[in-house]
Amino acid sequence: MPDGPGDVLRLLRAFLADPRGVGAVLPTSRTAVRAMLDLADLPAADLVVELGAGTGVATREILARLGPGARLVAVEIDPALARRLTERFSDPRLRVVHGSAESLGAHLDGEPADVVVSMLPFTSLEAGLRRRLLDELPRALRPGGAALVIQYSPLVLGELRRRFGAVRTRISPWNVPPAFLFACTRPGG
Ligand SMILES: C[S@@+](CC[C@H](N)C(=O)[O-])C[C@H]1O[C@@H](n2cnc3c(N)ncnc32)[C@H](O)[C@@H]1O
Repeated sequence: MPDGPGDVLRLLRAFLADPRGVGAVLPTSRTAVRAMLDLADLPAADLVVELGAGTGVATREILARLGPGARLVAVEIDPALARRLTERFSDPRLRVVHGSAESLGAHLDGEPADVVVSMLPFTSLEAGLRRRLLDELPRALRPGGAALVIQYSPLVLGELRRRFGAVRTRISPWNVPPAFLFACTRPGG
């Protein structure tokens, strides 16, 4: 099903219920999502995890890039958005989890992911929660696996460097507001 005004309203409703947790009133643009996904080898991945899948803009693009035997676990904390994701995609490779990315290890049964794609609004989250969520990124990855992070400010860059070392950074102007894209690799691959 295509994106539309319904998705804009759904995100706006979720934002009004939890402004800091949603952190955006407009869905991310497809162009910015594609630029972020270009930073990892998704066609080669067996297990991909998406955090804060929202209206499914990135979910759709990830599924379009994955191989036929790969799996995508999309985690979303907002119940209405999680329900909508389940209704919207009938792809057997996708499992939607209604829950918090803080419990990522449990959602994955400890299975390491090749790529983690984060749509979480780290900058607007309370500091302790932000740290716990950022800690989950390297923990969820196999050695050599990649974390892709989209943000509307560069503030999280230092925290990503502390956890991953080098971080590749891009800016996508094709988003409102312009998006910062970060690609991090878990050492040891
Ligand atoms: C910036 S929005 C992403 C919106 C998405 N890019 C879109 O265009 O639809 C952030 C999303 O993260 C979700 N979220 C926030 N905290 C979360 C958590 N701890 N676990 C899972 N999802 C979370 C919010 O409910 C929201 O859907």
